[in-house]
Amino acid sequence: MSKKKTLYVCDNCGYESPKWFGKCPVCAEWNTARELKLEEINNMGDDRPYVFLLKEASQIEENLRFSTYSEEIDNLLGGGVVPGQVILLGGEPGVGKSTLALQLAEKFSVHGNVLYVSGEESVSQIGLRAKRLGLNENSIYITTKNEIESLILAIKKQKPVLVILDSIQTIYSNSVEGVVGGVLQIRTVVEKIRKFSKENNVPILLIAHVNKEGNIAGPKLVEHIVDTVIYFEGEKSTDLRILRVLKNRFGPSGEIAIFQMQNDGLKELKDKIFIEESNMPGNVVTSLFEGTRPILVQVQSLVSRDKMATARRISHGIDVRKIIIIAAVISKHLNLPIDSHDIYVNVSGGLKITDPACDLAIASSVLSSLFNKFLGKTVIIGEVGLDGSVRKVHNLKKRIDNARKAGYKRFIVPYDEVNGEGIIKIRNLRDLYKYFVED
Ligand SMILES: Nc1ncnc2c1ncn2[C@@H]1O[C@H](COP(=O)(O)OP(=O)(O)O)[C@@H](O)[C@H]1O
Ligand SMILES: [Mg+2]
Repeated sequence: MSKKKTLYVCDNCGYESPKWFGKCPVCAEWNTARELKLEEINNMGDDRPYVFLLKEASQIEENLRFSTYSEEIDNLLGGGVVPGQVILLGGEPGVGKSTLALQLAEKFSVHGNVLYVSGEESVSQIGLRAKRLGLNENSIYITTKNEIESLILAIKKQKPVLVILDSIQTIYSNSVEGVVGGVLQIRTVVEKIRKFSKENNVPILLIAHVNKEGNIAGPKLVEHIVDTVIYFEGEKSTDLRILRVLKNRFGPSGEIAIFQMQNDGLKELKDKIFIEESNMPGNVVTSLFEGTRPILVQVQSLVSRDKMATARRISHGIDVRKIIIIAAVISKHLNLPIDSHDIYVNVSGGLKITDPACDLAIASSVLSSLFNKFLGKTVIIGEVGLDGSVRKVHNLKKRIDNARKAGYKRFIVPYDEVNGEGIIKIRNLRDLYKYFVED
């Protein structure tokens, strides 16, 4: 027998409370509390052992995982998909969620049938996409049924190894009222699918749209219910796409996977490089750390003499305040007339840099443009202090090793324990300056 728990959900903002409320304490709307009956998850059918030998314990979870046959995604998830795992994949429309889901469906169908529930596109549209992606769609099943109760009945009969719901905003439940895609509907649908997933050990991929402004009645309100939350990031103007794990009950969070969107789908960028090789002044390569791995990126600057009273600092992919500070440090410690120059800084591929280890590369890029001198094929890594010092960064060795794999042989880095061929260590911006003024 399943017990029922009642929850009150604000139909406006998604606030949840075990008690009824007249006015929502979060969004201050009146009369928005809607009753939600949560059925207890009944996992009595689970016949997995419940006592484990400690010395074998670390292996147990690994043995339960199913590979996605995508190295990037397995790594992102901490080694594959766990039975009964509910994964939320959020992202802006057009970023590539459906493409990724279909590619994943094909790879995962090695394990058995995969069911793709599409509330967004017609069966033939998905068929066309599969053709365009060159997929072998043998054991992928598609349905456009979008009522969760009958869907679950169908899923129970079909016994897929993975269910994809594209998107949760288009699936509805007949057990509650409210508009499709609204707070109460999304909350209910996710709860029902989660219960199904846990009781039957079927992993579920929930796709959710997020808009630029954040989200309205979107994935945020179900993030706490699911096991894993992944966001798909990328700018329309570039083909770089990043999957980022925000939460994961079965693995590390903060991990990323990088893809390139091509005509025939998303391709893994395994060695984590995003550089358009160029030997023009102003271009500098650095290594930024995301999750547990380094990524090679290119910083580009254009420094030009300003005829106006106030010099401009404009950046893309880097907080402009960082540019202002680095420019001030260069001006003060190298005594360069940079205050009267405009500075534009850009990061290749639409990547965003927040890692302070890229400071030195930004400073180098500015100097490179100012002196119209390219430093050669070099990776520049280091944090810059307000006193003009070049400071140590975390994981320097990993960054250098990663860059060596990509063919880089020369490195300008802070003083550190890391030694090796081609490593040039500097203590401050003056040491760096020499490379621009000497031949
Ligand atoms: N028929 C097509 N031909 C070429 N590219 C396409 C086609 N359909 C979609 N794309 C590309 O794939 C991208 C991702 O689409 P999609 O996976 O549907 O995104 P989402 O599901 O996140 O809205 C689109 O922005 C577009 O650039
Ligand atoms: Mg889509």
